[in-house]
Amino acid sequence: MSVKSYRKTFGPVCGVIGAQWGDEGKGKIVDILAEEYDIVARANGGANAGHTIVVDGVKHVFRILPSGSLHESAHIVLGSGMVMHLPTLLEEIALLRKHGIDVVERLHISREAHILFDFHKEIDAAMEERRSKASGEGIGTTKRGIGPAYMDKAARTGLRMESLGSDVKAALQQRSSWVKDAFGVSIDVENEVRQLVEAQNILESCVTDTVGYLHGALDQRKSVIIEGAQATLLDIDHGTYPYVTSSSTTLAGALQGLGIAPKCVTSCIGVAKAYCTRVGSGPFPAEADVKTAERLRERGGEYGSVTKRPRRTGWLSIDDLNFSARLNGITHWNITKLDVLDTEKVIPVWVNGERAEMSGWDTSTHGITDWKALPEQARAYVESIAKQTGIPVSFVGTGQGRDEMVVCS
Ligand code: GDP
Ligand code: IMO
Ligand code: MG
Repeated sequence: MSVKSYRKTFGPVCGVIGAQWGDEGKGKIVDILAEEYDIVARANGGANAGHTIVVDGVKHVFRILPSGSLHESAHIVLGSGMVMHLPTLLEEIALLRKHGIDVVERLHISREAHILFDFHKEIDAAMEERRSKASGEGIGTTKRGIGPAYMDKAARTGLRMESLGSDVKAALQQRSSWVKDAFGVSIDVENEVRQLVEAQNILESCVTDTVGYLHGALDQRKSVIIEGAQATLLDIDHGTYPYVTSSSTTLAGALQGLGIAPKCVTSCIGVAKAYCTRVGSGPFPAEADVKTAERLRERGGEYGSVTKRPRRTGWLSIDDLNFSARLNGITHWNITKLDVLDTEKVIPVWVNGERAEMSGWDTSTHGITDWKALPEQARAYVESIAKQTGIPVSFVGTGQGRDEMVVCS
């Protein structure tokens, strides 16, 4: 694949979906692809996502905005399936402006997306505490209010972006006593309203019918990158319930969250680490022993970009990749963070529920961009993923930087 033919290879509607428990490196590949695409879209979740990209040594962490936002030619869509904490979004916008990047002019926020209030975050924390007290273990949420905001959406008591500009004080006051009774949380109505007014001042012109906008763009043969958030094994229906997030994280979920029909999709890039991590509680059959887990964590910088929590680390499960491939219709893999395995002598891999072992390469792959320059064992490792999943590997990550990537032909 020539470096400038992504649009041709992946077609006009390309999904980028995490195949494990998140933090696979979705942000980096979206940033790379977005240069050639007209629109980058987020469809689900909110500020529980932390997508880190490194460009010319500068680190950018995206939470609500998609990672493709750095490309000034890209229009940005925040879809109906999202839950939006507006002060966080304003912070992100202000931070990008400091780097000389303006997004407001090209930002399209769904009027159907739900507003995530500060009180949702407080409910999240209160529920985690209750779960911990009751069973000794919470879900380990990011405490960004995600579950409670989706609770309100499903209960049809939520407020949506279309409410920006209307008087929501009475609605919040009405919720107040119920929230206090149910969760022991007080809603600071004045503060919530003040934050909405601040958001309205900056974002009012961005709130729109994003479904109509996307359909119009597709009619004009514009191209869209769908940036998945969270990942397949955290999906509310298909993940490791109850240790999941509260949205649909698959490609199908993303299409629902954007209002794009499945028949429009031209490709789906599955993003998977060459090993595996998980933040929060829940099963992780291929989790490494404490010492090995620590080594992988330090080499991979495996600390949450949102919460800074140490990520649990372990080995690649081909079974999980095959499951994700089936659920999402993955057409290409991006295997990330190969360089993190550079010092491993032997690399365990889970296949058909059993532990197998591959040879390590014990030499640096950091920054390699040419497939042939990878050590033989590293190529064998990547090739075995392609073989065992029946899906080609199109990208192999060898470092954090935008350019530290092998693009396979
Ligand atoms: P996302 O949530 O899927 O976008 O992933 P995160 O950004 O939360 O976590 C991935 C981390 O790995 C980030 O710090 C990236 O900069 C980093 N990263 C991505 N690809 C590579 C790679 O190939 N090698 C190394 N060493 N780091 C990478
Ligand atoms: P990105 O987009 C990794 C995990 C949390 C917790 C569970 C529920 O960066 O890959 P939530 O706050 O969503 O109610 O938490 O889901 N989780 C993530 N783990 N990456 C993420 O996003 C995550 N978003 C949520 O750690 O276990
Ligand atoms: Mg992340």
